[in-house]
Amino acid sequence: MTTTKKNVHFPLFDNDPSAAPRLHPLKELIKKLTEAYGPSGSEQVIREMIRDEIKGLADDVRVDALGNLIARLKGSGPAPRKKVMLAAHMDEIGVMVTHVDEKGFLRFANIGGVRPLTLIGHRCRFANGVIGTFGVEKKDASRTEVEMSKLFIDVGATSPTDAPVGVGDAAGFWRDFTDLGKRIISKAMDDRIGTVVLIETLKQLKRSPHDVFFVFTVQEEVGLRGATTSAYGIQPDLALAIDVTDTGDTPESNWMAVALGKGPAIKVKDSGMLAHPGVKRLLVETAQAEKIPYQFEVLVGGTTDAMAMQTAREGVPAGVVSVPTRYLHTPSEMVDFEDVQNTIKLFVALLSKPFKLD
Ligand code: CO
Ligand code: ZN
Repeated sequence: MTTTKKNVHFPLFDNDPSAAPRLHPLKELIKKLTEAYGPSGSEQVIREMIRDEIKGLADDVRVDALGNLIARLKGSGPAPRKKVMLAAHMDEIGVMVTHVDEKGFLRFANIGGVRPLTLIGHRCRFANGVIGTFGVEKKDASRTEVEMSKLFIDVGATSPTDAPVGVGDAAGFWRDFTDLGKRIISKAMDDRIGTVVLIETLKQLKRSPHDVFFVFTVQEEVGLRGATTSAYGIQPDLALAIDVTDTGDTPESNWMAVALGKGPAIKVKDSGMLAHPGVKRLLVETAQAEKIPYQFEVLVGGTTDAMAMQTAREGVPAGVVSVPTRYLHTPSEMVDFEDVQNTIKLFVALLSKPFKLD
């Protein structure tokens, strides 16, 4: 028992579900999509959710051989029309079981950029809904560094035969969505927030002079694989990725001029690509004309689907709009809700009018 200064009301302890505060409809969609299961290579569930969400909005919707979901909105302008490809990746980082020991503890490999220190004490969830917690050998959680090989997953099993999952099964992080009002937290803002931006853009965009391809890509976190094949197939005239980026706005952070709440970040450079100057200018001019706040992004480590799209076939002018995100690649990725709304606004404005890149 503790005493608090204020009499705080905790809806979690209230048995009456109607007492729970109702979420903003956009937050409701973010909650639904970020809580879904979908480590790289296992995008079936999240793909069906998105397909459901965009039903009736596009002229055609297809899934390619690799699993990318491609929705095409036919342009209203005269032919030949420009082809614009927008990419947001459906997959999230995760882990895959490599071994089950005689006591039922699971050893695992990473799927994408997983940092071992961020796992200890956290949970993961498998395709069949089984939840496990990460433990460390010698119970040594005080270290500043730990190797993945010293960690294990405990799913409550006591032997390999009663383990509800086995070798080759994949899991994503498991945390539920949290609404802090201005800021929101989830296990997979990277890049479900990008898929939300594309869905909302498709919903709000009444017509475009261009043929717009909304591509929900697979396997970004393990090497931009879905964007590679879909960009080859679409052969766009302009390609934009919508993804998350790091920030420099937490205590003693890295020197990065990106902060939560200052608007979508227009990529200039990351470790995999340099944005096409014409695409960067187009994004800046659109933001300025619409009075949407924006910031420039130079990301030292990491890249996005735009790297693969930029070098597709003979090359494609490409850029990225990023949603600034704190605590990237941890189970608690945080974004600013207004940044999300402004990112949607920017895409809708950009696609509503003709453009020139030179
Ligand atoms: Co990522
Ligand atoms: Zn991402």
